[in-house]
Amino acid sequence: MVKKKEDVTENHEDGEIEIEDLPGVGPMTADKLRDAGYDTIMSIAVAPTSELSESSGMSAASATKAQIAARNAMDMGFITGTELVERRKTIERMTTGSEDFDGLLGGGIETQSITEAFGEFGSGKSQLAMMLAITCQLPKKDGGLNRDILFIDTENTFRPERITQMCETRGLNPKKILSRIMVARAYTSDHQMLLVDKVDEVINKHGKDIGLIIVDSLMSLFRSEYAGRGTLAVRQQKLNRHLHSLQRMADKHNLAIYLTNQVQSNPAVFFGNPTKAIGGHILGHASQFRIYLRKGKAGKRVARLVDSPYLPEGEIIFNITEKGIDEA
Ligand SMILES: Nc1ncnc2c1ncn2[C@@H]1O[C@H](COP(=O)(O)OP(=O)(O)OP(=O)(O)O)[C@@H](O)[C@H]1O
Ligand SMILES: [Mg+2]
Repeated sequence: MVKKKEDVTENHEDGEIEIEDLPGVGPMTADKLRDAGYDTIMSIAVAPTSELSESSGMSAASATKAQIAARNAMDMGFITGTELVERRKTIERMTTGSEDFDGLLGGGIETQSITEAFGEFGSGKSQLAMMLAITCQLPKKDGGLNRDILFIDTENTFRPERITQMCETRGLNPKKILSRIMVARAYTSDHQMLLVDKVDEVINKHGKDIGLIIVDSLMSLFRSEYAGRGTLAVRQQKLNRHLHSLQRMADKHNLAIYLTNQVQSNPAVFFGNPTKAIGGHILGHASQFRIYLRKGKAGKRVARLVDSPYLPEGEIIFNITEKGIDEA
């Protein structure tokens, strides 16, 4: 989105500065920065310098200079608890389809946060993804946000037929629902990252009101591309960048992020559960809500909240039926 000159002057009267006002940032560089999602002074102030220079074509020295100016220009960092309360008031929640499951999460999946579900194959991670792609569109009175969905599919598991089945058994119009889910198949981890970098464009240029970004699954491509031990540091660096872009979108557009993740067996654990999520500390810190899903007795599923900034750990039982995620 290219800002018109008049807007810039208008902002100047408010005492605000635009990214063109930074040293070394001409109109062309500004366009490149905006295309890469850096459209505010704040986003530039907090971005990794290497990423700034990479996406704008500026040298590392110029990028650093622009960044220092951005940091000086703004009131960095601290806001009061009262302001934080105001910001958190804008958080919205969407239903998972099960009241118990919603209860576990304090009322449903939150905007401005990353929610991650991990668990073994068939535990219901993708079923929940498709369910949320429906519930996000529901009117607010029915537990939705009445907003659209971006679905990044890395394993080719998104099934429109399954969405149709869930809709029909819930009395919803599948055609309408499917038309508001934008699915992109990612073929490499770089492609996956690029898709997230395009979110701003989808929202600003195409005028979509995105309420939820799904990545199913987050780690599969990273895991297969960076298999050797020596590549782990690079993988984690990229993953970190990817998760930061996702969080930035969540904050900027007040939307929810739902990620699915695989598990690896941990032979060091003899008692309790021998599986843990892959992705390491970087992912562990990035996702605010971590849910462990597993198969229970008689086709039931168990969801355990293992990490949350303010909710107690807990466990509930749910079902996967033709309706999607359902009460046990
Ligand atoms: N139409 C349906 N009706 C009832 N249950 C279904 C239906 N479709 C799928 N399921 C259940 O969901 C399970 C698959 O769950 P899901 O695809 O969410 O697994 P996952 O956790 O994403 O696994 P993976 O790690 O392989 O991606 C099936 O094994 C089946 O039990
Ligand atoms: Mg899956």
